[in-house]
Amino acid sequence: MNIRINTDNTGIDADEIEALRPETGKALDRLWSGREAMTGWVQLPTGRYEEELEYILNLADAVKNEAELFVVIGIGGSYLGAKAAIEALPKYERGIPVKFLGNNLCTDYFWETVEEIKKKKTILCVISKSGSTMEVRTAFEIVKPLLAERYGSEEEAAKRIIAITDAEKGALREETTEKGYTTMTIADDIGGRYSVLTPAGLLPMAVCGIDIRALLEGAAEMAGSPEWDTDLADYAICRYLLQQKGKEVEFIELCHSRLGYLGEWIKQLYGESEGKEGGGLLPTTLTFSTDLHSMGQYLQQGRQIFMETLLVVDEPSIQMTVPAGPQAGKTLAEISEAMVKGVIEAHRSAGIPIVEIHMDRLDAREYGQLLYFLETTCAITAMLSGVNPFDQPGVESYKAEMHKLLD
Ligand code: PA5
Repeated sequence: MNIRINTDNTGIDADEIEALRPETGKALDRLWSGREAMTGWVQLPTGRYEEELEYILNLADAVKNEAELFVVIGIGGSYLGAKAAIEALPKYERGIPVKFLGNNLCTDYFWETVEEIKKKKTILCVISKSGSTMEVRTAFEIVKPLLAERYGSEEEAAKRIIAITDAEKGALREETTEKGYTTMTIADDIGGRYSVLTPAGLLPMAVCGIDIRALLEGAAEMAGSPEWDTDLADYAICRYLLQQKGKEVEFIELCHSRLGYLGEWIKQLYGESEGKEGGGLLPTTLTFSTDLHSMGQYLQQGRQIFMETLLVVDEPSIQMTVPAGPQAGKTLAEISEAMVKGVIEAHRSAGIPIVEIHMDRLDAREYGQLLYFLETTCAITAMLSGVNPFDQPGVESYKAEMHKLLD
């Protein structure tokens, strides 16, 4: 497996980890049993998905042939997975630009996007599991008339709209059936933040030119690997134990400039799955080495309420050598490795618990492994903590209050 962890610098005894392994084993069995609610994502890459893959690839080809711009309207789990992958991964095939809308209520951003849509041949993809999220519905209503104007009628616009939503429920499903939009579904037993390997994540990635077959293969490798019982469970155990020992915050430190949005995806995954009943590590992200020069001081000597998870990509896709100066002859990768080792040494000696996650390189296959690793780790940590990883009552209450005010 290309994803590996190191828990040597967590300050946790091997015995403590070992003692929790039977419980994590049971949690994994529960996830795989198919009997737990909202665990449809577990078996996605290892079987259930194959039939849909061809459909997504063909649809992506049709979009690329027809359009200059693909606008994805979605928020939370209905956009973060796609956005993060598009930012992180190399593009293997010809793709077209993907623009995200409906993930904020900022007039200026809407205005810029609307102006762009007016100038380009656009296909719209609206993604909402519930079909009723305010930001998404609002964006959809703003953009639909632009397509009707450009293509001459609502019927012509409808041919350029793809809706990804629940198979049966919700206002978006009703409208899709009525207007005849091209459609795909997010299965009923998969929640928003676990939906990155459904069409919600994969279609925008494919349109952008990402090798989604390799990404799914990577996820399947992780799902079928023996590391399930060790690396993956151990990261969950460390997160759980460090919380028990009083840590309140997890700094997820991304040692690659293209992983910033993966950090946003992780924050949603961990925050919504674990932040319940007054508990859960507060997930927050940093990018290294950039943030060492803003937050480095706090990490080293500030209030020690946190653990660190350091995500390192070991091999760059290309080598660059420093031509002159004190580091002449060294590669950037060597300097970056020294940065990582230096951080670990400095923070370890300050008593900060650090989990390292290493991947060999940032490609679609390893990224698929990583996504699956993180989803499963998160679910297990929540199960160890005794909270339901798959609901989000806090998000629902904000949505309900906003609806009340607007109605
Ligand atoms: O994880 C979740 O379920 C949520 O955060 C949703 O992804 C988010 O609220 C968007 O919901 P929907 O896809 O129903 O529009």
